Amino acid sequence: MIRLTIPSIEADDLAAVREVLATGFLVQGPRVAAFERALAEYLGVRHAIAVSNCTAALHLALLALDVRPGDLVIVTAYSYTATANVIELCAAQPVFVDIQPDTFNMAPDRLAETLERLAATRAALGRVRAILPVHTFGQPADMPAIMAIADRYGIPVVEDAACALGARLAGRPAGAWGALGCFSFHPRKAITTGEGGLIVTDRDDLAWRLRALRNHGQDPDAAGPDFVMPGFNYRLTEFQAALGLTQLAKLDRIIAARRERADRYDQLLAGSAVQPPAVAPGAVPVYQSYVVLLPPAAAAGRGDLIGRLRREGIETTIGTWHMPMTTYFRARYGYRPGDFPVTDDVFARSLTLPLHETLTAEEQAQVVGRLHDALAVALRP
Ligand SMILES: Cc1ncc(COP(=O)(O)O)c(C=O)c1O
Repeated sequence: MIRLTIPSIEADDLAAVREVLATGFLVQGPRVAAFERALAEYLGVRHAIAVSNCTAALHLALLALDVRPGDLVIVTAYSYTATANVIELCAAQPVFVDIQPDTFNMAPDRLAETLERLAATRAALGRVRAILPVHTFGQPADMPAIMAIADRYGIPVVEDAACALGARLAGRPAGAWGALGCFSFHPRKAITTGEGGLIVTDRDDLAWRLRALRNHGQDPDAAGPDFVMPGFNYRLTEFQAALGLTQLAKLDRIIAARRERADRYDQLLAGSAVQPPAVAPGAVPVYQSYVVLLPPAAAAGRGDLIGRLRREGIETTIGTWHMPMTTYFRARYGYRPGDFPVTDDVFARSLTLPLHETLTAEEQAQVVGRLHDALAVALRP
């Protein structure tokens, strides 16, 4: 089977984890602190706070910004459901914004329209506590435009950079533009700690709150345990951090390999009916996923196409989720097809191809050849 993804776990990763397990000191400690320092340096930020996964990172980011019941958080429509779930978990309400058809990221002009609409009733605008764009599949969102709009209204930005560690735009790392940036170390990301997450910020006040919130509400600066707020146990373990450190040392190599394979797919797909992912000017993506668009006529047959490819030994899947049209959000807020037309189209036509460091040129040619065969069947009248 040509797998969708294979994490790059090597002998030094295994040795690092084994060494920590043998010490018997397993929960958040010096290795977590070292992992945080290394990531803060890599991303050029003042603070990096490791947590148990990116869902926890996003949840704490919103709580640190004081998102409260009844507040509004503006969020892209096309993402993994964790991105919007955390808003609901704060008892706040997501306001979804449609995406760009080529990068699949939040469309700045739709964001501006949404804020103008909310500004028509001053009370609604006053309830907007954060803007939450996503660097979808590791392609940087248009942060200069999003930050300019956010700054105009004085609203803080939380970047969901779950898939985007190492991605850059105009030379600046994805995740390091807004008040807060959140990352994931799930095995489908470039580097992994099994489960794992990170929040970065330059603001000392937010960093202090985040460190308290991830650790049962303990004052992170106090000499002894002092519980100053209700908090969670969202900590990362020592053996995960040890794995994170050995993985981080390989990140640039892994990203380079992913880019090389993405370029090869681009060439193999050139001139065909399958549309490769776009890269915005000035953006350096990391290709957490290589997501293509099938021709519109193939959308209805996409499930069969994925099944056929699987039977032929090629693992593919959809892109990500149309969050407003998932059962929960549709039932709660009454969204309908047409409310987010670009997300409707991208959700229906997207297909993720296998991409990992050990994928060979022959396997890529096989993936594209079989995809074109399957497409010919899907499009047969
Ligand atoms: C865009 C996005 N945000 C958040 C998450 C949640 O990350 P985690 O699995 O680390 O909780 C994911 C997971 O895939 C994601 O793709």
